[in-house]
Amino acid sequence: MNRTAAESRAAKLRTVIEEHNWRYHVLDAPVIPDAQFDALVRELAQIEETYPELVTPDSPTQRVGGQPQEGFAPVNHRTPMLSLDNATVQGDLRDFSRRAKDLAPEAVPEYVVELKVDGLAVSMQYEDGRLIRGATRGDGEVGEDITHNLRTIPSIPLRLRQPLTLEARGEVYMPRAAFLALNEERAAGDMALFANPRNAAAGSLRQKDPRIAASRSLDIFVYGLGFSRQVSPATHAEALELLKALGLRVNPHIFVSRDLEEVIQYCESWRERRFELPYDVDGLVVKINGLSLQELLGATSKSPRWAIAYKFPAEQALTRVEGIAVQVGRTGVLTPIAVLVPVRLAGTVVKRASLHNEDILREKDVRIGDSVLVQKAGEIIPEVVEVLTGMRTGGEQPFTMPENCPACRARVSRLPGEVALRCTNPACPAKGMEAIVHFASRNAMNIEGLGPSRVARLLEAGLITDAADLYRLQDRKPALLVLEGWQEKSVNNLLSAVEQSRRQPLWRLIHALGIRFAGERTAKLLAEHFNCLDALRTARPEELEAIPEVGPKVAGSIVEYFGLPSTHDLLSKLRAAGVNFTQGAKKAVSRPLAGKKLVLTGTLPSLSREEATRLIEEAGGMVSGSVSRNTDYVVVGEKAGSKLAEAQKQGLPLLDETGLKEILGQAGQK
Ligand code: IVH
Repeated sequence: MNRTAAESRAAKLRTVIEEHNWRYHVLDAPVIPDAQFDALVRELAQIEETYPELVTPDSPTQRVGGQPQEGFAPVNHRTPMLSLDNATVQGDLRDFSRRAKDLAPEAVPEYVVELKVDGLAVSMQYEDGRLIRGATRGDGEVGEDITHNLRTIPSIPLRLRQPLTLEARGEVYMPRAAFLALNEERAAGDMALFANPRNAAAGSLRQKDPRIAASRSLDIFVYGLGFSRQVSPATHAEALELLKALGLRVNPHIFVSRDLEEVIQYCESWRERRFELPYDVDGLVVKINGLSLQELLGATSKSPRWAIAYKFPAEQALTRVEGIAVQVGRTGVLTPIAVLVPVRLAGTVVKRASLHNEDILREKDVRIGDSVLVQKAGEIIPEVVEVLTGMRTGGEQPFTMPENCPACRARVSRLPGEVALRCTNPACPAKGMEAIVHFASRNAMNIEGLGPSRVARLLEAGLITDAADLYRLQDRKPALLVLEGWQEKSVNNLLSAVEQSRRQPLWRLIHALGIRFAGERTAKLLAEHFNCLDALRTARPEELEAIPEVGPKVAGSIVEYFGLPSTHDLLSKLRAAGVNFTQGAKKAVSRPLAGKKLVLTGTLPSLSREEATRLIEEAGGMVSGSVSRNTDYVVVGEKAGSKLAEAQKQGLPLLDETGLKEILGQAGQK
């Protein structure tokens, strides 16, 4: 193809790709199969590779483009990005309406109600239809330039469907499923967890490297027109229609009424229903629809008089701190934990809550004996949200983090730039114990029956000092049998579980080693890439970083881990014990799910989630935590949640357990 032909083909492809991208991510109604879409993107990428001068900044190939940013340039908002006054009871909404009527007695206001999605407010500037800048709210007057990250969000068009110049405002959020999957991955890699989807979204947008934001499944709902020159809708609802017509993603749940009581009823109808949505909603926003009336009402310095947020309370419970414990993790990180008087919260009994780290502990000033409000953040980790200092009696005891490790008494230290305190002793038994517990855990070497208390007993009895010693236990059977509570049968079961784990696939061993920042998914990628542990052990950072999803931080951590003398010793012992270090020849059996991505949701009748995952992986498939355009099948069990709804919306193929087993070629077997 000559250059002229390439140029016009590239322009055509960009338009077509943007169109399909919009149908998929904004309308949720794709019209071509994913493979065909991918082929279009590949074709464009090839043209751009041949003629690099033809690359345009708004090309769909350039979403994750350029070098990581040095910092975030300030962006002045043309009109301030205000916040909203809060209403918490119905009366507040009536007061809001009365205030508006007092200021504009002639007007008969109409209201628009929208969901208040819990994320981060952003502004997007389009010039002649092209996305030229994206910014955070900042202090309302000046935000930070995060264009590089907003471009990676697939539902944000790089080009509008009409070449208009305007500013759109909206909320970037992380769907709950993506948040849970991200935290699971981080927990496996021993990284700090995000407290809730909002923090995760904010953390993702605050990254200098756009590849991180791109990997975080962020999405957006646009809720308003900032500045605009060429368009002048009469109402807010019309503005939303316009934004939608331009290709921006607007939330479908919108209610328009002149009747305030109806508005209140609509708000109330979401109090429970909001939990069925695949994203967090912390309330509703009631806005006055007419834009001229909005202008007449104006704003205070903080918030408009034409809108109000009707907020639902987070699920919280009141309890007391009985003590503060300090846990030592497998990498030596000390985490303060509040031990609570047990309390029911969002369906479970909460007994402990994370205080995260020393800074947060000090900032919240949590003392032993304090009355506290606890909250299930993002529905998984309970946390202390507030100390009710007014309820103090004077007998509360402040707590400071220990200077010595609670497990080995070695000094703890805080590395520059880290919030975590770490035990400095490489041989700390707490680290050792956590490391062995992790090694044996279900998603690692899967040694059944070897949990924390048994590992602790084995360590105390001097029968093991590290994970490799587990493979010598068969010679120590008499010593095991004298341990309190260990019978012949349980000892035999343990020994056979240990024995079986020698033949675990390579990714399980890599995961079991507990390399910082390298969780289960990374372990699978590494096993697939290197095929044997020795190739991974000697890999250079560049080689590691060439693997998709492996960044400099993960690569650095892997290289550091394999450089440690203690790693060398552990690996020699594991090798001598006959633990499998290789990927092994790919099974000759058929791999009916080769290359397929599956999502599991709900409870299957006979397979546990782990079993289903193992079977899928053995058949060459991959299980991912959230539904996306790349999902090939969604396997649905009982009590399936938002993932099913999402799959139905996207028209993805669904399977039940029987269907899955049929594909796996083992129907009728357990
Ligand atoms: S309107 C001046 N509409 O809530 C009015 N805000 O405290 C600007 N939010 O910073 C906001 N959903 O981050 C509006 N449908 C919605 C919203 C929404 C979420 C957030 C936004 C804003 C905060 C207000």
